[in-house]
Amino acid sequence: MLAFDIIIVGTGHGGAQAAIALRQKGFEGSILMIGRDKTPPYERPALSKEYLAGEKPFERLLIRPEQFWADKDVALKLGTSVTRIDPEARQISVTGDETIAYRKLIWAAGGDARRLSCPGAHLEGCHVVRDRGDVDRLRAQIAAGARRVLVVGGGYIGLEAAAVLRKLGCDVTLVEMQDRLLSRVAGEELSQFYLEEHRRQGVDVRLNTGLESIVGDGENLTGAILTTSEELACDAIVAGVGIVPAVGPLIAAGAAGANGVDVDGICHTSLPGIYAIGDCAAHPNPYAQGEVIRLESVQNANDMATTVAKAICEEPEQYDALPWFWSNQYDLKLQTAGLSIGYDTTVVRGDPAERSFSVVYLRDGMVIAVDAVNKTKDYVQGRKLVSERAMVSREDLEDESRQLKELL
Ligand code: APR
Repeated sequence: MLAFDIIIVGTGHGGAQAAIALRQKGFEGSILMIGRDKTPPYERPALSKEYLAGEKPFERLLIRPEQFWADKDVALKLGTSVTRIDPEARQISVTGDETIAYRKLIWAAGGDARRLSCPGAHLEGCHVVRDRGDVDRLRAQIAAGARRVLVVGGGYIGLEAAAVLRKLGCDVTLVEMQDRLLSRVAGEELSQFYLEEHRRQGVDVRLNTGLESIVGDGENLTGAILTTSEELACDAIVAGVGIVPAVGPLIAAGAAGANGVDVDGICHTSLPGIYAIGDCAAHPNPYAQGEVIRLESVQNANDMATTVAKAICEEPEQYDALPWFWSNQYDLKLQTAGLSIGYDTTVVRGDPAERSFSVVYLRDGMVIAVDAVNKTKDYVQGRKLVSERAMVSREDLEDESRQLKELL
């Protein structure tokens, strides 16, 4: 039976960074990285942006050149899924019925794009945006002449896809079942701004609207019936309706978890020798007052990977990285730091109408997050306010003659 000191499950940002960080820290044991994707680790954020737009070739998305993994003695097993974990024997089973032993397992399997569940969701032309294959299929359909696209979901994936599709000349309708865009991750000011911007760019945005069913002709979809009963003709549907944490084998093996898999402050699960990182790891986050949350971001995947590498190299340190995130839509560069969960006050600096502004979120007088649109200075300085947990008055924040760094 094959055996490795470390098996990393998942070849996304978290998995790749775990291997990189282990080697950087001088870990000399054997490492195997297993992934369902057939390609070595690549950058996901570009998939819904430059890669969908056809502006960046796939080779430029690789996290490291392919040779890097061999040079660092990291074995790759691609196009392979883990089907079962035996935590007592410290063995995993993978597709093809192979069993591989480990000393420590790092679960970095992320999440799967949630699929639409309405009637007709199986029809050709229904897309998600999660891995390279998804985007290649969507691009191929656009290249073959699909013009009318219905985007389902007004989170970052739906909005970024809508922006690119407009640029590619598509007619885009976007439905969001909540009463505002980005409701899971941002405050109302940002939701309103992006709503106006997408409408200005010609996206037909419908709030409080979902899909009743998808209709088709043979194998291909031809339209959708909205929850408003309206029937909309379209050639393609892009669903950006969130992710489902990929933790099946872990939970089946007895790991604690409900929304993803539970980990402690060094990303260890309830199973011996098994860590979990990234989108699927439900952890107590110091920027959410210790509340147990999952964070779906590259930052979180990378920083948790480093936390685990340190723990494995016997330099354990509690995970306390500052959350940050970005989104590019049209010529708008959004940068966010901190978590706005539970905010009671927001202050807008700058003028949204001028397409350069920031929103500072406060809870009980403490700066907990900042969203900056085309305003990198506020993002950079706002990050410090968040990480220092600065107590700042609304009046001081509103005084735009003062830079955020002066309020520290
Ligand atoms: N009809 C309309 N809207 C829906 C439906 C539906 N059937 N189901 C869900 N939605 C809406 C939700 O209300 C939410 O606003 O889709 C949006 C999904 O947003 P997110 O949960 O943020 O997920 P998504 O945009 O798909 O992003 C998934 O990829 O890049 C990352 O940061 C991103 O981690 C996130 C992940």
